[in-house]
Amino acid sequence: MSNKKPLKIGMIGYGFMARTHSNAYVKVNRFFQDLPYQPVLKAACARKKEKIEAFADAWGYESIETDWRKLVERDDIDAVDICTPNNMHHDIAIAAAKAGKIILCEKPLAMNTSEGEEMVKAVESAGVPNTVWYNYRRVPAVALAKEIVDEGRLGKIFHYRSNFLQDFTISEDLPQGGAGLWRLDASVAGSGVTGDLLAHNVDTAMWLNGPIESVSAMTETFVKERVHQETGKKEPVKIDDATTFMARFTNGSLAVFEATRYARGHKAMYTLEMNGEDGSIHWNLEEMERLDFFDHKDDSKVRGWHKIHVTDGDHPYMGHWWVPGLQIGYEHTFIHQVADFLDALGKGKAIRPTFADAQQTQKVCEAVLESGKKGTWVKTGLDASVTV
Ligand SMILES: NC(=O)c1ccc[n+]([C@@H]2O[C@H](COP(=O)([O-])OP(=O)(O)OC[C@H]3O[C@@H](n4cnc5c(N)ncnc54)[C@H](O)[C@@H]3O)[C@@H](O)[C@H]2O)c1
Repeated sequence: MSNKKPLKIGMIGYGFMARTHSNAYVKVNRFFQDLPYQPVLKAACARKKEKIEAFADAWGYESIETDWRKLVERDDIDAVDICTPNNMHHDIAIAAAKAGKIILCEKPLAMNTSEGEEMVKAVESAGVPNTVWYNYRRVPAVALAKEIVDEGRLGKIFHYRSNFLQDFTISEDLPQGGAGLWRLDASVAGSGVTGDLLAHNVDTAMWLNGPIESVSAMTETFVKERVHQETGKKEPVKIDDATTFMARFTNGSLAVFEATRYARGHKAMYTLEMNGEDGSIHWNLEEMERLDFFDHKDDSKVRGWHKIHVTDGDHPYMGHWWVPGLQIGYEHTFIHQVADFLDALGKGKAIRPTFADAQQTQKVCEAVLESGKKGTWVKTGLDASVTV
């Protein structure tokens, strides 16, 4: 018998993220055994009854709803998990906060900073625990990078560079909008690769290297018109297909970021590199269990890039998994986020990144889009006191 407190989850959506999160709720207590809470899959919600029934059956949700407002109002739901497209985050989060629910919201927090501001206010005035699923912080190799940076092993930081490269929208025949392709419809996604991909790079970057102070961006929409799946007509494409930007961090370091869905051959190539006076780190999602670390303090005879296989028991999160040398994958980052979330909830601590943290990333993304339009440097409004 479990002596853990039940945490009754209301899931909204049945797509990609709803599956990664459901998997995390199911598995978390098996691998992280000291947590005070046990997620209970109470209800799943989407508009199409047959679809959400099939999802609920597959993952073991006890009930379904077809209207998210009903789910949010249910007394037997403790936490609402928002796994819908970006244009739904704001209304669901505000209603959930008013109903006193714990909220776990997918990224990006919102369509824009004004929505984000209202969401932050709503969770703060309701006093409800909240978090945003910037899951790459919970890749063991990225968490190890954070330890290395925080220990000062890189010394003064000069450079940060980061990419997120995909190639799935190159064909002009690909439609926009509707199921599966809402990411290409600006009225649903808010932006293109900036909110979808660069938001991840920016969240990780500010977590590792502090706030971004100003940005100078180029944005491009390579395919200007696509058939909309819902209207059947050719309509203008209003998202950014590709965005490249330079940035200055408040710690004086310089950065280059790039995201695109037109990098033929790359499916999900997220890379990051930091260069400091005493060392450098490099990571890429295609070899996510490795962290490359160069330590200039090594004896010159053996100095070189260490390829750390981040699978040992004393590496972040890895003591909960198999035996040293055996790697874990993408889905585990969500299990780690749930584990950290349940642990923090038990301790009454904030679960980072919170809505307020994610709003800082939202501000940077908005500055990037503004700079792309104006062709000038834009201040993000963040100063050195900001932490995410
Ligand atoms: N953390 C990450 O790495 C990551 C990865 C992918 C997506 N995301 C984010 O997760 C969110 C969802 O993306 P996805 O890839 O899972 O999308 P998806 O298209 O696979 O799923 C979206 C789901 O939302 C549901 N939905 C849409 N409108 C609804 C409504 N009115 N009421 C109830 N349900 C509704 C759809 O039925 C679908 O199940 C987005 O905000 C996206 O940016 C984050």
